[in-house]
Amino acid sequence: MLFRFLESRLQQAVAAVLPDVDLGKILIRPCPDPKFGDYQTRALIAVAQARKTSPRKLGTEVLAKLDVSEWCDKVEVAGPGFINFFLKPAALGAALDAVAGGRQNIFEPARQPRTVVIDFSSPNVAKPMHVGHIRSTILGDCLARTLRLLGHTVVTDNHIGDWGTQFGKLLVGWKRLLDRAALERDPIAEMERLYRTITAECEQNPATLELARQELVKLQAGDEENLRLWREMQALSQSQFDTIYGRLGVKFDHTLGESFYNPWLRDVVEQLTRRGIARVSDGATAVFSNGSVPPKEDPFLISRDGEWQPNPALIQKTDGGFNYATTDLATLDYRLRTWHPDQILYVTDGRQQLHFRQIFAAFRRWHPEVKVDLVHVWFGSIQGKDGKPFKTRTGDTVKLSDLLDEAEERAFQVVTAKNPELPEATCREIARIVGIGAVKYADLAPNRQSDYVFDWDKILALNGNTAPYLQYAYTRIQSIFRKAGAPAASSAEGFQLTELEELRLAKHLLNFGLTLEAVAEECRPNYLCNYLFELAGHFGRFYEACPVLKGGDAVRASRLALCAATARVLKQGLEVLGIETTEQM
Ligand code: ARG
Repeated sequence: MLFRFLESRLQQAVAAVLPDVDLGKILIRPCPDPKFGDYQTRALIAVAQARKTSPRKLGTEVLAKLDVSEWCDKVEVAGPGFINFFLKPAALGAALDAVAGGRQNIFEPARQPRTVVIDFSSPNVAKPMHVGHIRSTILGDCLARTLRLLGHTVVTDNHIGDWGTQFGKLLVGWKRLLDRAALERDPIAEMERLYRTITAECEQNPATLELARQELVKLQAGDEENLRLWREMQALSQSQFDTIYGRLGVKFDHTLGESFYNPWLRDVVEQLTRRGIARVSDGATAVFSNGSVPPKEDPFLISRDGEWQPNPALIQKTDGGFNYATTDLATLDYRLRTWHPDQILYVTDGRQQLHFRQIFAAFRRWHPEVKVDLVHVWFGSIQGKDGKPFKTRTGDTVKLSDLLDEAEERAFQVVTAKNPELPEATCREIARIVGIGAVKYADLAPNRQSDYVFDWDKILALNGNTAPYLQYAYTRIQSIFRKAGAPAASSAEGFQLTELEELRLAKHLLNFGLTLEAVAEECRPNYLCNYLFELAGHFGRFYEACPVLKGGDAVRASRLALCAATARVLKQGLEVLGIETTEQM
């Protein structure tokens, strides 16, 4: 890939000037402002500062050793010590030819492939699957797709909450209030009703709370009846989850729920206690601070009334029961033994930040020898147009199946209004692709750490940073090929780029791989969304400025090739986001 050629030449030049520099840090990136060039390196500034020399001077020395004349018109030292590269149009054309001709991929496989475990979706049995779970599902799936495409080994694991405290309440509810007919009609709704009713009762009546606690202890101790009911609840929930995953096109390599880790929980507590990482306090066992990091960074301390106070992570309750943290420690240990990952990503909402900081810190103390990168990929909450958490009009949690139904229905209205002549079945299929795509894109496009407002009109708009806009851009390119009477898939070579908008589009196309890498490194699918949105914009301007079908043969072939390359990147980019495309809409 073009920028890699430039990068390796740059690295050679840097090595010629400073033989001991870590070349892995000498990278080039697209120039933020095309006025200053096409590509840029900022890496020499840090190198020069570390050596107490002037970055511009270092830049000039490197430039003297740098020959990139086959690809660049001009290379210059600029600003505080950047080096800017200006590409030759012919080099761009040749790079795109190589991609179109299949001699080069538009992105490069990772130079250091990792094994990455991704823990995502992870809804809770018999509890409402909230919009946060859909966001985790969509983000996690996109990260899995991105990493796989780049050649990493990915293991996806759905850490279903199938053993939590909710079962105490559910068992009380099931035994007392179960409506079999309602359960058959809509199992999740009935289980939710039981859960809610008993939760409300627990708040009023401590005796019910105590009963729920006892049912949970019985279940965890292996009581036959409770286990049977628990299995039934689990099976009912799982089939519901599977329906949703089917609609979203999301698959998991493993679904190892919390209950899977029961056999190891006692041992986790024992080991942590034996090593002095955890200790008994007021009858419970918990991990406390060991004072090894400054209080501000210590997840086991909390500032209250101007003082740092203990904020332990509970791993065994006074009644002997284990909890979420214990399970997560056992899970981590299991994953390392089983898959030997280099990295584990946990995709959950931001409210679990403290939990994961504690788990990671406890794990480091437990296994200081293990080198694994543990990342909490957290995200903000989804709000309604009123700025409050996204709820139904009656104030209930939005059910995922209802959300997807509504998306498809609304998309159906948009599609039929645009194409009154299409048969209904075709419109339904397009609406499925557009509706589900719109919901997914709404979750992926904002910076994941900011809260976002869920607004049907915005996410389904054909204009703006939305899935329908990108899907529509894709169909427009397909229709150019229909008009041209040429198949879009033809690996058209022969790029001859001269016009400004052609050059801009071509350069942007070549940045696809870098974008994928940035998504993988920072776990931020929004980079890819922005990239695709910009791509569609560049394409639109190119199409305005450069008639595709009217030029002479060579110009027409070159422009059709640009169309084909754009369509390919759009399609593949959307695929990485987990979003389908359609030929017409
Ligand atoms: N079931 C949890 C929830 O709904 C999410 C689990 C995330 N994964 C984990 N290993 N803790 O909040």
